[in-house]
Amino acid sequence: MALTEFLSQLDELAAAAQSAFSSAADAAAVEAARVEFLGAKSGRLKAVQKGLGSIPAADKPAAGQRFNAVKQQIEAALEAAQKRLAGTATQATAAGCDPTTPGTPLALGHLHPITQTIEELKDIMGRLGFSVAEGPEVEDEWHNFEALNIPAAHPARDPLENFYLTTASSGTAPTMLLRSQTSTVQIRVMEHTKPPVRIISLGRVYRPDTADATHYPMFHQIEGLLVDRQVTMADLKSVLRLFAASYLGHDVHIRFRPSFFPFTEPSVEVDMQWQDRWIEFGGAGMVDPHVLRAVGYDPDEVSGFAFGLGVERLCARRHHVTDIREFYKKDVRFLHQF
Ligand code: DAH
Repeated sequence: MALTEFLSQLDELAAAAQSAFSSAADAAAVEAARVEFLGAKSGRLKAVQKGLGSIPAADKPAAGQRFNAVKQQIEAALEAAQKRLAGTATQATAAGCDPTTPGTPLALGHLHPITQTIEELKDIMGRLGFSVAEGPEVEDEWHNFEALNIPAAHPARDPLENFYLTTASSGTAPTMLLRSQTSTVQIRVMEHTKPPVRIISLGRVYRPDTADATHYPMFHQIEGLLVDRQVTMADLKSVLRLFAASYLGHDVHIRFRPSFFPFTEPSVEVDMQWQDRWIEFGGAGMVDPHVLRAVGYDPDEVSGFAFGLGVERLCARRHHVTDIREFYKKDVRFLHQF
């Protein structure tokens, strides 16, 4: 091989190596370039070196010298690339960022225990064929009282028992209040639906109670309503028993105690026996004929049962929470337990 050809091969190689090393963006690319150009077995420098043997003797010293110079040049380019990358890594680490460490998982929040309870209660009642209905939290007196057979003089309408709202009115706007019970939704549903009706409604209710271990001025109720032909008290008890067994466990018994609610006749308090204690969870009864008539139903055609239970009470009982105020303190140490 002629000296000129050998030298031009070397020049070409030097240029290619220089560009490969200076454009390598990471350690893997540097290593790939090292193997390509300086690899001991099949590197390109090695390949060019083989031509050295066929150079005329007189030109050998010049060829050898140039070969060594190019080899050093390529090795220097490798070293420079390694230094350059090490520099970036050190800078990143110094800035508190090591791109090679696994990411920090984001702390995801979770649903509030009362929301979890609501979802579970919807699920249980859904399996019993009840669909979910909703109503407004700011109500008028018709839905909160009148249609539920609670007339104007009834003590349940006392301003001290309710959060009435001051409506900017000329005297004609209806009096509004924060609903004191989810029974309002019974009326709203029946007003717009022909029987049969089979709904539950879960939501906030408001009463000016002083907060203590079992009271809070805002709490949640689950309301149930079933209206159809020939509905009886036995249906009510079966549904509530299935409900209690599903939520609190299969060893739960329920009992009815005679009571009074204006919108049911007869009316009962619903107690559930759980771990050797009877606990009151709410009220229930057969929908009063006055209520059926108020929404345009015929009490001779249809009958129904209704119930209203406290969601905080159910949740607290199941999770052994002894003070319902805990639910609303926003203390994450408490909330994380659910
Ligand atoms: N609304 C009642 C309360 O807040 C609970 C209740 C009792 C709801 C009997 C009902 C019922 O649907 O039938 O105390």
